[in-house]
Amino acid sequence: MAHYHTPCMPNEVAYYLNCRPGQTIVDGTVGGAGHSRMICSQIAPDGLFIGIDQDKDAIRHAREVLAPWIHRTHLIHANFGDLNRILDTLGLTAVDGILLDIGLSLHQLKASGRGFSFTQDEPLDMRMNTDNPTTAADIIQTADERTLAGIFRDFGEERRAKVFARAIVREREDADLTQSRTLSELIVRMVPRREAARQKIHPATRVFMALRIAVNHELENLRQVLPVAVRRLNPLGRLCVLSFHSLEDRIVKHTFREMSKDCRCDPALPVCACGRNPQVRLLTRKVVRPGEAERAANPMARSTRLRAVAKRPPTEEVA
Ligand SMILES: C[S@@+](CC[C@H](N)C(=O)[O-])C[C@H]1O[C@@H](n2cnc3c(N)ncnc32)[C@H](O)[C@@H]1O
Repeated sequence: MAHYHTPCMPNEVAYYLNCRPGQTIVDGTVGGAGHSRMICSQIAPDGLFIGIDQDKDAIRHAREVLAPWIHRTHLIHANFGDLNRILDTLGLTAVDGILLDIGLSLHQLKASGRGFSFTQDEPLDMRMNTDNPTTAADIIQTADERTLAGIFRDFGEERRAKVFARAIVREREDADLTQSRTLSELIVRMVPRREAARQKIHPATRVFMALRIAVNHELENLRQVLPVAVRRLNPLGRLCVLSFHSLEDRIVKHTFREMSKDCRCDPALPVCACGRNPQVRLLTRKVVRPGEAERAANPMARSTRLRAVAKRPPTEEVA
């Protein structure tokens, strides 16, 4: 693995996850193992670390980085959406903290050779887990125009979704669109030069992001894992999520807000009928962003958004 990740917002993650010696902590997105390493050193010598990543490269790399703590570490190649099964298999009912740092690792972006970036010419693969069957090229070559436009619009918030989808369907009749460069050049040709000059980002940024989200079912995985993660926390255990764009952050924000609500009944009802207790306490009322210094030093961190919650103890234990 050529790229070692400088973990995003390490001080903030340390603060909100609040790891202490002897705890059991899950990092659901090991990536370059920067956060994992920090967590392992904080829970040592008796803590238990569970590191999950759906990318085999990340797991392989983490084995080296986490060597000093490997006797108290489980590294698992899996989707964090399978958290329940993973913890059941390890015989763990609950853990003290869970970290999810959603998105791409530097290795995936720069060195995996899987076409995540429009700046390199690579096969359009984009699978984080190469055991999964569908690549980005499969989608580009076979999806119908409506589906493509839906992907670009829903996962990329791309204004020109329909234009790009139409161009792809037309172009693929004669040309092979299975390389990242060919796709990005086609997108660039579809954007009037004046408009491209005004844009702050490369014209293909949103299309590449949307494809990656679709290939890896990223939003579904996130929606699925959040309630499971909270369920599998010990009372007062922490869940900390780092996300990189507004679509993900919206899911985290709404889920945390719902889980922190006292009662879901219509306020007009005289008494509570739902019997709900809030499951979590919000540790971050507003989203937390990296500081000035980190943004200057680590461009990868610029769009990071952090939110965290603590699991509420059952009501009878609340003081
Ligand atoms: C931003 S990187 C994590 C960086 C890491 N925190 C560090 O300090 O180096 C995101 C990682 O999460 C992994 N990932 C994304 N979605 C996943 C999922 N649903 N299940 C398991 N791993 C996932 C990716 O493969 C990638 O390696």
